[in-house]
Amino acid sequence: MVGESVSPSCFPNITVLKGVEDMPLLLQTGELRPGMTLANDIVNNFQILLPKGHRLNANDAKYLARKYPDLSVCVHDPVLEDAVDFEEPFGREKINERVVRQFQSNFESVSRKAHLMLRECVALDPRQFQELEQIISRMLKYIRENPVTMNLLEQASGWHEYLQQHGMAVFNFSLLLCYRLQDHVHPPAPSVGNYNSDHNLDGLASLATAALFHDIGMVPIQHLYDKTGLLTQQEIASIKAHPLVGVELLPEEINNMTCQAITQHHENYDGSGYVDGLKESQINVFARILRIVDAYTAAVTNKGYKKSKTPARALYEMMHGSFCPCYDPALLNLFAGVIQPLPVGAKLKLQNGLYAVVVRSNTHNPFKPQVIIAFDDQEKPLPKSQLAQPFYLDERDDVEAVSFGKQDISFLNRTVDDISLDEHDHALREIYDQMCQLAMV
Ligand SMILES: [Fe+2]
Ligand SMILES: [Fe+2]
Repeated sequence: MVGESVSPSCFPNITVLKGVEDMPLLLQTGELRPGMTLANDIVNNFQILLPKGHRLNANDAKYLARKYPDLSVCVHDPVLEDAVDFEEPFGREKINERVVRQFQSNFESVSRKAHLMLRECVALDPRQFQELEQIISRMLKYIRENPVTMNLLEQASGWHEYLQQHGMAVFNFSLLLCYRLQDHVHPPAPSVGNYNSDHNLDGLASLATAALFHDIGMVPIQHLYDKTGLLTQQEIASIKAHPLVGVELLPEEINNMTCQAITQHHENYDGSGYVDGLKESQINVFARILRIVDAYTAAVTNKGYKKSKTPARALYEMMHGSFCPCYDPALLNLFAGVIQPLPVGAKLKLQNGLYAVVVRSNTHNPFKPQVIIAFDDQEKPLPKSQLAQPFYLDERDDVEAVSFGKQDISFLNRTVDDISLDEHDHALREIYDQMCQLAMV
């Protein structure tokens, strides 16, 4: 896990999703054409490059494509907006802005990346997102106000940029996964209003702290993040020691649960991990969460010597590749349901040359969202009269998605089983109970 640095290509969508009700089409800058209207501000490094509502001219389109080739931008598509009911992307900007504000002081570069992370997770409704926002706010408040962790935060501002960004990403996704687990065990009431307010996850500070600082043991060897050549045996050994080194670097007052989660965050569910080769329930439940979230965020970030994977590829390999046994299967399936690698608005190229647009995510199968075929093989919008009904990607054998922007997604055309959380229900309830107990420690 060396040399990981968050790159624009792994979270390519720098556009902040403001005005989510206007979410129509997500295009890469190379696909922008004069006359298109921006559905959101285009933001980079806290600067608004172009405001929401701006109508692009030829120079804008050319400039954006040249200067920000990996940027994705939301534009209006009057035909599609009128013809099909897009799933709302759930108020993600609210939580992201809050995270940005709170971390701006000493986690500036981190927060810029952090607000991109959760936008890929679209399987939450607005109320659920508000609840998650509150949990994250409480965690950040705890960490900022607690003298022990505050001190760590101050030190962290001198860490390698990757370590800061990675810690923040793991923090966000870990809380999201816990939140999802809570929702699975105690589904929100269908009625509007106060739901799940009695949940018992307030005490997740140990996990949140562990998530932010899980790789603190890499700080003494953080120069390896910039190394482009192969690692020596000695360097590999130092890396394998980082969970133990990390605990030594933590202040004595730090919670025992946090220490345990950090020590065990590279233990694999099948016993093949390090430091102690623990397996299954021998591994602290927080560490099992970190293992999954850490692997995903590391996979989708660039490394000095290794290019990042796309979210679709990373999630697919975690679920169906040779490393699958490393992860707690119940938690992995839950995690897969909240990651949407083909987000609403994504324009997918099909094998027949036509283009489809994602209109609805699919929590049962993140690789098979609902789409509508909306562009011809010249990428010209189809008139409303020629638009057929939306369908899920696994509903039609004659339709295969081959790419999303520059991402090759043809590997997703093989049959991918739906996620069944029912078979993991017992395990998830057990994990939840353990987590609640740990949260009270
Ligand atoms: Fe690590
Ligand atoms: Fe890590």
